[in-house]
Amino acid sequence: MSKTFYIETFGCQMNAHDSEKVIGTLEQGGYAQVDDEADAGLIVYNTCSIRDKAEQKVFHRLNEYKRMQGEGKRFAVIGCVAQQEGERIFEKAPYVSIVSGSASYRNLPEMLARLEAGEQRITGLDDRQTDQTFETEFVSRTNPHRGYITIIEGCDKFCAYCVVPYTRGKERSRTAASVLEEARRIADLGYTEIQLLGQNVNSYQDPSGAMTFAELLAAVGQIGGIRRVRFTTSHPRDFTKDIVDAIDSYETLCDHVHLPVQSGSSAVLHAMNREYTREWYLERISWIKAARRDISMTSDIIVGFPGETERDLEDTATLLDDVGYDAIFAFKYSPRPNTPALTMLDSIPEQVKSARLQHLLDRQRAIQRKNYERHLGEEMDVMVEGHNAQRAQVIGRSSQNKTVNFTTTQPILPAAGSYVRVRVTQVFPNSLVAEAKVV
Ligand code: 5AD
Ligand code: SF4
Repeated sequence: MSKTFYIETFGCQMNAHDSEKVIGTLEQGGYAQVDDEADAGLIVYNTCSIRDKAEQKVFHRLNEYKRMQGEGKRFAVIGCVAQQEGERIFEKAPYVSIVSGSASYRNLPEMLARLEAGEQRITGLDDRQTDQTFETEFVSRTNPHRGYITIIEGCDKFCAYCVVPYTRGKERSRTAASVLEEARRIADLGYTEIQLLGQNVNSYQDPSGAMTFAELLAAVGQIGGIRRVRFTTSHPRDFTKDIVDAIDSYETLCDHVHLPVQSGSSAVLHAMNREYTREWYLERISWIKAARRDISMTSDIIVGFPGETERDLEDTATLLDDVGYDAIFAFKYSPRPNTPALTMLDSIPEQVKSARLQHLLDRQRAIQRKNYERHLGEEMDVMVEGHNAQRAQVIGRSSQNKTVNFTTTQPILPAAGSYVRVRVTQVFPNSLVAEAKVV
């Protein structure tokens, strides 16, 4: 087998960052990454199983493996589908050699050595017992400006619809000292933005007891050279007011909180095992709204959860009005293996789920159209991400994570990763248009 690999990543930012660590680990083991599957001795798919569609995508790609059989290639399926399906993957796709969940990635070098020694089928599966995290100094960062840092892995929340507690194992946090050490290291490399990652960052528990999540956030925000700190994802149950206070106190902490509500109906929230009510959630929102800074709020929503009535849906619609999110990510409920909701009757027809989804998206669009108006005339710093040559615009992102397209009179366009002060001249429901300030 040639020591070259190709990797494709599905799913969330945790997965994207896991891939960065996997790439670093493989490179350390003497493997070289290639951009084309055809040139690779080892093909790695880092998979997602959050909804059925995501999982189907993976099996579709796996079927394409068949074409490449007999070319001396080896295949590895890692990530959430690997953990969920385990050895069944070998039945569905006999040409796969490695099946590994994220909690076993630290064993990848050993698995690769066994593969090289001629073993045909190797598994690394988690039984929710592990205390280990995948900390490695061999991270190959693929995003040149945003440095991801995992602070907590796994999830102990067991929302009724969610695969994550089964695919990513139990919650385990890294020490604050090790997180800060990594943050300083990547600041020294020139990164100006850091995103702290975890399935539920708010339940971060420093094993050494030195810092709370809010204190860690503040400490990362005070590292020299760091201009933006983001964190994702938050859980309302564990979201504490000191997080809002930290954002208010340190300009480098981005003025954006992604706080998934899932539903505006307390009855549905109860059925989902979210462990909070609408009122509890809105209290956290009131802390954010009372902040000195204008903190942008975004959310995830699931429609069509078993038992959801039109009345429940209306509760979600009015919650959108009450909060005034700057963006939502809304999904139709998708029954997942192993989850408690699988035993509930998924009785809401697909067309009804689609209609409910559309109803919320329409409502939210009107909210955003109005919300974004507050930015007209505002000055803000934009981190440049790219250029749109056709429209002679620079594309970037605000601290609130909004897309900003701006023009500049400078003869040389600002480079990706640089920060430009702009003034907003026009607003759309999903983006802002601006002019660079002449300095
Ligand atoms: N069906 C639909 N959406 C889901 N999510 C998680 N599990 C499911 C499911 N079974 C959504 C939630 C979560 C986001 C990442 O994906 O809204 O916050
Ligand atoms: Fe997908 Fe969830 Fe796994 Fe991320 S943690 S890859 S969203 S299933």
